[in-house]
Formats: sequence, C-alpha cells, structure tokens
Amino acid sequence: MKRMVAAVVLTVVLAQAAVAGEITVGFAQIGAESAWRTAETISIKDEAEKQGVTLIFSDAQQKQENQIRAIRSFIAQGVDVIGLAPVVESGWDPVLVEAREAGTPVILVDRKVNSDESLYECYLGPNVIEEGRNAARWLAKRMNGKATIVELQGTVGAAPAIERKQGFEDILAEYPDMRIVKSQSGDFTRAKGKEVMEQWVKSPDFSSVDAVYAHNDDMALGAIQALEESGFKPGKDIVIVSIDGVRDAFVAMTEGKLNCTVECNPLLGPQFFSLVKRLASGESIPRWEESHEGVFDETVAAEVLPTRLY
Ligand code: AHR
Repeated sequence: MKRMVAAVVLTVVLAQAAVAGEITVGFAQIGAESAWRTAETISIKDEAEKQGVTLIFSDAQQKQENQIRAIRSFIAQGVDVIGLAPVVESGWDPVLVEAREAGTPVILVDRKVNSDESLYECYLGPNVIEEGRNAARWLAKRMNGKATIVELQGTVGAAPAIERKQGFEDILAEYPDMRIVKSQSGDFTRAKGKEVMEQWVKSPDFSSVDAVYAHNDDMALGAIQALEESGFKPGKDIVIVSIDGVRDAFVAMTEGKLNCTVECNPLLGPQFFSLVKRLASGESIPRWEESHEGVFDETVAAEVLPTRLY
C-alpha cells in the first residue's frame, strides 16, 4: 500500500516536471575502465544535453561504495530519476529501498543487480548471456569443435562477468573437445588483461592453449600485447574472441591479431532518456528495454570499421 501511494505521488511529481520541462537525472556511472564505458558516458552526457535534461553525473572509479554514496546524494537532491550502471550484482538492497521510499525511480543501465525487481523500474541493456553464447558459437565453428581455451573474466561479481561466463559455458557443454583450462579476472581493463596473460604464458602447459575468450575487448587487447611480447602471433597461432565491438577491436581484426568481437552496444543515451521521459509523463515502461547487437569477425572487419561509432 505504502508502495502504491509512493508510486502515485511519484507519477504526479514527475508529470509536473515534464510539463515544466524540468527533469533532473542523477547518473551513477561505474568509472572509465574500458573504451566501451567511456563511449557510454559520452552517449549519456550528449543525449542529456540534446534533450535539455539536467544531468548530475557521478564517476565511482569502480567502487560500489562510491556509487551508493552518489545515489544517496541524488535522493537528497531530489532528482526525478536515477540511472545506475551497477559495478557488481549484489549489495544494492538498502540503497534501492531508500530510493523507493523517497519515490525516486531507478533505471538500471547495461548491468543487472540481483535485488528484487520491485526495487527498480527497468533494466536497459542487452541479453548478456546471449553475448557469451554467441562468442562460444563463433569459436566452436572456427575451431571445428576442438579448442583449449583460456578465459579472461570481467570484474569479480559483476553481472556481465557472471553471465558472459555462463552463456559461454552453456554452448561449451555441447562440445566435449572444447574446454577452459585457465580462467581469471582481468577486471575489464586492458592493463589487467595484459598482466594476467603475462603470467599465463610463463606456465609450461600454456603450449597447448589455442584460444582466448575475453569478456571484453580491452582485456583481449591487453592480452594481445602480452602474447606479442612473448613471441606469439595472436590471431594466428592463438584464436581470440572477445565482447564489445569497440573501434580498437576492429583495428586489431584488420591487423589479423583479433579474430572476432561480439557487439555490446554502449550508445544507450537515446534509449535511456526516452525511458526517463516516458516515466516523467506518467507512461509505464517495460521491465526490460533490450538493446540489440551483432557479431563481427575478421572477415568483415575492414568493411565495417569505418562505420563504427565507438
Ligand atoms: O557492462 C558492460 C561491460 O562493462 C563492457 O563489456 C565492458 O567493456 C565494460 O567495462
């Protein structure tokens, strides 16, 4: 009942904001760990300006406690809507309850949380499990169902790290001769991807490895650097598949160093502010606003590169 009253009050307040054309959004961003993340931030900021929405933007430098602090400050400032790209999946309940009690709707952007669905309005982002499945499907085809794989995972506890692993393993279950022999977090950054690969190449059993699966392009690009510095020919003697579809990944594919990238679209600004405006005018919005993505490999990289927007 309390929630119903809060919802009604919220709609009225937001509808008034829409009429006056004054909408304020607080956006709790994770940080700038990857080229993908930077592209998303630019998309959110550009679109806020285009739509005339006041944006209070916070960069949490990859720390959940900073995101929680930012959300509390957004609530205290009385923003109309909060956008949250959650660094990890768990630990959000208390602050999401605070937002609900204050009548401030929260839209999750590009990553999910494992809180009850009643604590946020909508998840805007891709089917991340499918991204992992697509990476594995592509690799299975390229390797004729036989591969010894090392896996660079994203940030520990982050939804895309969990789901990209799960999706990839779903498909691997169909291929008994494809197995992951090493798996470690590279925290979605180029520097850590390189660091982890530098360690792996030193181990004697690395000679059997013929494929890399990285949960994002930045880690793959770091790993490519480490492989080259150790005398390997990434993209040739080791097949590499990653996720995101950033420009540098396409450049690496045209140079024959990366073999495939599964797209994850960061240009979510237009969809995000369309959801904000729909909320503000009292419309209901879907629980999941899905972003759509493709798979690009080395055979199309040169043709597609000039059209990439991030
Ligand atoms: O949540 C999306 C992921 O976060 C992207 O794949 C990765 O590059 C980013 O850091």
